Amino acid sequence: MILVLDFGGQYAQLIARRVRECRVFSELIPYDTPIEEIRARNPEGIILSGGPNSVYDEGAPRVDPALFDLDIPILGICYGMQLMALDLGGEVGAVQIREYGRSTLEVKDHSGLFAGTAEKQRVWMSHGDAVFSPPDDFVVTAETPSAPIVAFEEPHKKRYGVQFHLEVRHTEYGMEILKNFLFDVCDCRADWTPVNIITDAVEKIRAQVGDARVIAGLSGGVDSATAAMLVHRAVGDNLTCVFVDHGLLRKNEAEQVIEAFRERSDIPLIHVDATGRFLDKLAGVTDPEAKRKIVGEEFIRVFEEEAQKIEDAKFLVQGTLYSDVIESGTRDAARIKSHHNVGGLPEVMDLDLVEPLRNLFKDEVRVVAAELGMPERMVWRQPFPGPGLAIRIIGDVTAERLEILRQADAVLQDEIRNAGFYRELWQSFAVLPTIHSVGVMGDARTYAYPVVIRAVTSDDAMTADWARLPYDLLEHISNRIINEVPGVNRVALDITSKPPGTIEWE
Ligand code: XMP
Repeated sequence: MILVLDFGGQYAQLIARRVRECRVFSELIPYDTPIEEIRARNPEGIILSGGPNSVYDEGAPRVDPALFDLDIPILGICYGMQLMALDLGGEVGAVQIREYGRSTLEVKDHSGLFAGTAEKQRVWMSHGDAVFSPPDDFVVTAETPSAPIVAFEEPHKKRYGVQFHLEVRHTEYGMEILKNFLFDVCDCRADWTPVNIITDAVEKIRAQVGDARVIAGLSGGVDSATAAMLVHRAVGDNLTCVFVDHGLLRKNEAEQVIEAFRERSDIPLIHVDATGRFLDKLAGVTDPEAKRKIVGEEFIRVFEEEAQKIEDAKFLVQGTLYSDVIESGTRDAARIKSHHNVGGLPEVMDLDLVEPLRNLFKDEVRVVAAELGMPERMVWRQPFPGPGLAIRIIGDVTAERLEILRQADAVLQDEIRNAGFYRELWQSFAVLPTIHSVGVMGDARTYAYPVVIRAVTSDDAMTADWARLPYDLLEHISNRIINEVPGVNRVALDITSKPPGTIEWE
């Protein structure tokens, strides 16, 4: 097992996830986790993540220097390398020209981390400070044109540092370098598989809930279904699933979800029609964070009411993913938006949460889902946010606008599936900005809504690119939406990646 100490970098969890991709279990923990706790976890190695600070900033996160006395291999990445340098007697300073993005690294010593990689390689950097002189006994193993000490090591004590981000795909040999650390330096075994994830999750769930009854919120997506199946393995008949129709779903979605679930499972399912109640609360609300919080709270209130009808129901299962957690903001990372199931939760809740997927990314969940025997259609279902169409109507949510968006979205889904693009897109959906523009149809003036098409590719929702859909397909979608959806006279295409945009508009 490898522990990753989190110094607040946006890519910190990506490091843990890359380690798991190498089939070694890894977990992200706060940088100030006490040394005794770290030792007790018995990791084969420790990785120090990057972070937004300079080591010299006031209040910059530091580690207990005793960490470096542990007889455990340590790899520092970016900020983590600079911390290691500073704490072990090296020197760190501000570089004259900050470096963001691609750089070419030259390897000076192929014996350790760089074994089996090329002399010159593309790496991805993002830093304002750098190591100016290494601690005693450290050798410099790589340089870039602007940073003479871009990697160093002390192989006897097994201390390693790299200034570049080996965890991002743009770093050419990132995975090889990571594997050298995991398998050559730390002597890890590649035996962490989806089956382990399942066994481990089931054990943890049993330990958490004991004999209590549990309810699981089901959305129709792969995350909540996977979470519910794991809990079912753990507690069997003590689980009841609850599907809440909040009136913000896509066309025919509620019926389809219920039918598909009942076809494949005999876990009891309660269907709550809460349409009016959510729409009442959302009336006149335009602020995206307010919408998210209303939906987050209302979901919990409905679950609490359902739980009261079941004797001894104390826990609520949610399919929360790591990307929901990081975007909602953590102590060390900035809030981008409050995902309904994390930042949108009310402060006081009757039910304790069970979230077996909280440390995983979506593609890891899909592997688990497939291992659990879920049908392909479910495993590869595109994500749909908990607040649903409420965050795709840019402005206040009304029944009329929901109907327009639902119809436009149904056309888009239909065309994307028929053209064979559904699975290769991370998401494809329609957005309704609540503005009007002028058009002309049948020789008459129109003054109606535009619909925006959003289609993106992504691995894990942390970054995304807008999909280059064929013009013919776009033309067809545009014609159909305008002809078939009353109230729409214009179709636009969103060509923004993430960053700088986010996938959803709100
Ligand atoms: P953004 O818009 O932040 O979205 O780039 C990243 C992914 O998360 C989904 N999303 C949510 N999922 N509750 C959810 O269950 C939410 O509140 C929420 N907000 C965004 C979004 O659809 C995308 O897949």
